[in-house]
Amino acid sequence: MLHPVVLSGGSGSRLWPLSRQNQPKQFLRLIGDHSLYQETVIRASRLPDAQPPVTVCSEDHRFMIGEQLQEVAIPSGGILLEPVARNTAPAIALAALHVASTDPDGALLVMPADHLIENESAFRTAVGSAVGLAEQGWLVTFGITPDYAETGYGYILRGESLSADGYRVERFVEKPDLTTAERYVAEGTYAWNSGMFLFKASAYLDELARYAPAVLAAARDAYAAANNDLDFIRVGKDAFATSPNDSIDYAVMEKTGRAAVVPVSCGWSDIGSWSSLWSVAERDGDDNRHEGDVISVDTKGSLVRASERRMIATIGVEDLVIIDTPDATLVARKDRVQDVKTVVDHLKAAG
Ligand code: GDD
Ligand code: MG
Repeated sequence: MLHPVVLSGGSGSRLWPLSRQNQPKQFLRLIGDHSLYQETVIRASRLPDAQPPVTVCSEDHRFMIGEQLQEVAIPSGGILLEPVARNTAPAIALAALHVASTDPDGALLVMPADHLIENESAFRTAVGSAVGLAEQGWLVTFGITPDYAETGYGYILRGESLSADGYRVERFVEKPDLTTAERYVAEGTYAWNSGMFLFKASAYLDELARYAPAVLAAARDAYAAANNDLDFIRVGKDAFATSPNDSIDYAVMEKTGRAAVVPVSCGWSDIGSWSSLWSVAERDGDDNRHEGDVISVDTKGSLVRASERRMIATIGVEDLVIIDTPDATLVARKDRVQDVKTVVDHLKAAG
């Protein structure tokens, strides 16, 4: 059986000042009526034959997750609560152990809670192809055609064909430096790793045992020590804290010989920054995206988001991001929004 697993552990610091430590980006209504987390569980629940989604998140966000699930009336396959953040390799290990405890032959569809998918039917078709490969023991990634040299993504070089639309992964390179990423994009033979994965729980656990045994041991002990409280599964803190901090990409995908890739063109985007939100949002004739009470005169290519407290007016500006909240306002050039992280680091350092 297919068990969607929604990873909801990130903080989304590049969407400051809207995202905050207690209100990360996956819980915000950025586009449309639902948060990205809700969109993800809705997408999961519409997959044919999928079991209720399992969520893995920080203990601090349990109420938010509970509320957001209830709002969209989606039953939960369990909410695994991490006492400390140790990145995606151990988070997915918990989910794999949880699924295997009731369905030893079950497969996981790992879905980050902060991605947008515009073409759901193309996504479903790709999942269908991946299920077949996962049944044969492959750890399947979903490859996206890259359109620029992003250094924040993993890159996948495809090898021999395994099925009608699946290939063996020849090489998986997580977050290459800029020169390497530029070369990969120019060569045209690499795909971006979407960050979604599909594999049998047992296949992932086997590869962890091989390549990241300390992650597996920590996750096993933490899951064995878990306390259940309704849908919440609170795993053992001391054991979980011993896990190395490692992502699935570095811990497993770069090393395994059992990786496969299914190319997918589903309008995928990782809402990593304000400019990526601008680029996927619907815009007016001047390429502006306005939210809330905004008046603009001779303004182009900008994202302007007013808070409930006051209106924003812009005159004669281009390519700006203006985000107002009750206690902080961001004004940035659209091509500089990656540096929002610097502001957040600064705030953290200042306590
Ligand atoms: N539960 C849990 N616990 N979730 C986590 C944790 C954690 O400790 N750390 C990260 N996550 C969640 C994030 O919220 C996000 O939904 C997903 O796991 C991926 O983590 P990111 O931190 O966003 O990874 P990334 O964007 O740097 O890189 C990954 O995604 C790229 C595509 O967006 C990699 O898989 C890359 O290879 C990929 O290209
Ligand atoms: Mg990400």
